[in-house]
Amino acid sequence: MADIGPQDVAPATLAPPEPHVVVLFGASGDLARRKLLPGLFHLDRAGHLSDCRVVGTSLEAMGNAEFRRLARKACESFGRGRVDEADWDRFERRLSWVDGTTGPEGLADAVSQAEADIGEECRRLHYLSVPPAAAASVIKTLGEAGLVERSRIIMEKPFGTDLASAQRLNAMVHEVFDEEQVFRIDHFLGKEAALNILALRFANGLFEPIWSRNFIDHIQIDVPETLTVEGRGSFYDQTGAFRDMVVTHLFQVLAFVAMEPPVELAPAAITVEKDKVFRSMKGIRPEDVVRGRYRGYRDAPGVSADSDTETFIALKCRIDNWRWSGVPFYLRTGKAMAEGARIISIAFREPPKSMFPEGSGVGRKGPDHLTFDLDESSRISLSYYGKRPGPGMFVDKLSMQFSLSEIENQEDTLEAYERLIRDAMGGDHTLFTTAEGIEELWNTAAPMLEEPPEALPYERGTWGPGEIHDLIAPHRWRLPFQRRWRG
Ligand code: BG6
Repeated sequence: MADIGPQDVAPATLAPPEPHVVVLFGASGDLARRKLLPGLFHLDRAGHLSDCRVVGTSLEAMGNAEFRRLARKACESFGRGRVDEADWDRFERRLSWVDGTTGPEGLADAVSQAEADIGEECRRLHYLSVPPAAAASVIKTLGEAGLVERSRIIMEKPFGTDLASAQRLNAMVHEVFDEEQVFRIDHFLGKEAALNILALRFANGLFEPIWSRNFIDHIQIDVPETLTVEGRGSFYDQTGAFRDMVVTHLFQVLAFVAMEPPVELAPAAITVEKDKVFRSMKGIRPEDVVRGRYRGYRDAPGVSADSDTETFIALKCRIDNWRWSGVPFYLRTGKAMAEGARIISIAFREPPKSMFPEGSGVGRKGPDHLTFDLDESSRISLSYYGKRPGPGMFVDKLSMQFSLSEIENQEDTLEAYERLIRDAMGGDHTLFTTAEGIEELWNTAAPMLEEPPEALPYERGTWGPGEIHDLIAPHRWRLPFQRRWRG
């Protein structure tokens, strides 16, 4: 095939989804203010929505004007860039409010009014930004309000707290909605950088042939956070690092890294491959886990004084299939840690024999790595040994790096929630998780949940309890990086 330069091909564009009424449950809550309202505003201003109305609701009492003020403040505080008056005027007219206390009838009236505004038959997207305990009653309300037809629902994690509760939750959802209507959101999969894992693996001939136990030694998925649980103590104390981050985000990312090439880049095909990874994962053994709790956690508002919740977890997991047999995956995440980062690091096997003279430096700085940074900058780095200039043969660790900021149209980037809301509006399940997938993950988690090891104390601003080094030995945690990202 002849080489074609990027200038020769117009990038494919996606038509906006059909007109929608979005019903936002929990519309005055933290997630709505930080992500969902600014996200919808951005989608609107960037031309990703066709006609759309947003009906906000929660147990708080407020009117349209107050909701619009709350939304504006949210977009100003948490959105990207300045709020342009013309953009805001258009968006604001799309917003209305209904008090949750008005029940199914009140909700049905508000939605039908919004639909009448659009003036044609439209789709409904119900976004359940509510605590898990409230999900059941919202779903019941939607059924009673007759808002199931033409609709899809986005559900926020946690999807249960163990296998039995996830099964109950799924069964309850399926009493009202078909699985096809359900979009279980995991915002890590909406990150540009997570999608780049698929692009890098499957759009190139270079990496896939070496993507297996024959060439890869081990893999790390490391998401330390500097923030504490301050402000969300009561949610966090019921959840903990394992349920909040591992069974959700880290396992989902692991599936992108480990899955077989799907037969096509389409929802069903990708789901099949992801679910196969989940089925192949061995149960997480308590002896492969380091749990931790930062000092002072129990004093945080909303946290019980004798809490056993972990704020840190590091674990080794294994995927029992031909591609990955014998390759450990090390996962780590925690609050109040030394640095915030979100990296996936693929460590390649070392050469079978070194012909370099003693002291040349080969292998001195660990194995070659391919590193993905899941941050907004979506960086990728390939580190390798290269010759140090000058006489003799001494080698140093060098790297080839790429950052999203080097791409011309980086302003087209959608924030994770924006991308996922748009996908759900288009009925695209690719980046969402099935009931079956969720249940498999709880199955994998069961041994650790049944016998969690003791949560060890760690100081704030560190990398977790010292035991993490034994867990990964003879390897080492990539973070903190020996060399910083460039730029
Ligand atoms: C959320 C967790 O789902 O993800 C939080 O509940 C965590 O505890 C957050 O801080 C991390 O997301 P991001 O996109 O900021 O890395």
